[in-house]
Amino acid sequence: MTTQIDEHLRALKPQALEALLGHSLLTTASASDDDLGAILSLAEIFAELDRNGIRTPLCPQELAYAVFFDNSTRTKSAWAGAAARLGMVPVIVDGSSTQVAHGETAEETGAMLGMNAHALGIRHDLILGEGNAFMRDIKRGIDSYLAATHDSRRVPIVNLQCDVDHPTQAMADLLHLRQRFPGGLAGKKIAVSWAYSPSYAKPLSVPQGLISLLTRFGAQVTLAHPEGYDLLDAPMDQARRFSSESGGSFRVTQDMDDAFAGADVVYPKSWGPHSLMLDRIAANRAGDKAALVAIEQSCLRQNARHTDWICDERRMGLTDDALYMHCLPADIGAEVSPGVMERFRSDLAREANWKVYVIMALLAGAKVPFLAQRIRALISN
Ligand code: CP
Repeated sequence: MTTQIDEHLRALKPQALEALLGHSLLTTASASDDDLGAILSLAEIFAELDRNGIRTPLCPQELAYAVFFDNSTRTKSAWAGAAARLGMVPVIVDGSSTQVAHGETAEETGAMLGMNAHALGIRHDLILGEGNAFMRDIKRGIDSYLAATHDSRRVPIVNLQCDVDHPTQAMADLLHLRQRFPGGLAGKKIAVSWAYSPSYAKPLSVPQGLISLLTRFGAQVTLAHPEGYDLLDAPMDQARRFSSESGGSFRVTQDMDDAFAGADVVYPKSWGPHSLMLDRIAANRAGDKAALVAIEQSCLRQNARHTDWICDERRMGLTDDALYMHCLPADIGAEVSPGVMERFRSDLAREANWKVYVIMALLAGAKVPFLAQRIRALISN
């Protein structure tokens, strides 16, 4: 039982674990290869410990506070599950119920939350150009408060999805891929594709998180989307750079069939039209709710020009018996056909389940000194 855990623990570089202490992961692109390697190994260790019923109360009675400015099912539950497994007390609040809605700045909010909390999760993904900046301001507020009060607590921030990245999702996806392809991702053809959605204009952060992470592991990543659905420049630049450094490749097409042809993995998922998503910034700053509704309707009208961008049996037939992936929830009958969804239902659940262990890895990695020794002690007790 512990052989696999032992192997992972032996593979952990002590300096990499040391570097995680106090670390807030706001995008995977800003994490070094060693940081990422340590976080992924820790997630695999926590998954294995959990499967074997070994308890991991590494941060007892600490407060794991999370603020969500958008809906969530999986990430909220993963946050609560991770905190509970670490012995922390999880508290999740709706961002619109905080004083941020009345104009309190992110920095002030950070200081106030950091006073009590021992870790802070944030989802702020709806407004392009704002979510990641908000998290950085919150972090500045917490760090200034802790420094000014000579408080030695480590209060890491975990990005639970912003406008730029959805790191806990992308790392959960990567762990699912590592399990499916134990020989590694080098040379694997992965299609990250836009797909039609009639429900709402979804953030760009999932495809951005995927292209900027999977290109680090030698995969041949193809991004497909209709005209007007471009992603932000920074993750596109990262994907180009990482793919060239890792020996993989990265290309863009406006043809979903082209992306699916010969693919080993397909990840078809909707996101909003770029220029309309940017229009939300001014409407949001002005607090103009009518304008936000009108922009949303325009997004959906533009999406409706591309209803043929669906992952169905015909398209799956173009692939090399590909693994279908999605961060969920999927628009069944729009992004994906009911048949494809049904065929991959248990794979999708396994993919989603990795997130709890990614969050455990981020929290424990940032908070617990001598983590490898502490984990060994849990096993031998
Ligand atoms: N994939 C994902 O982040 O799901 P939730 O929006 O339900 O958290």
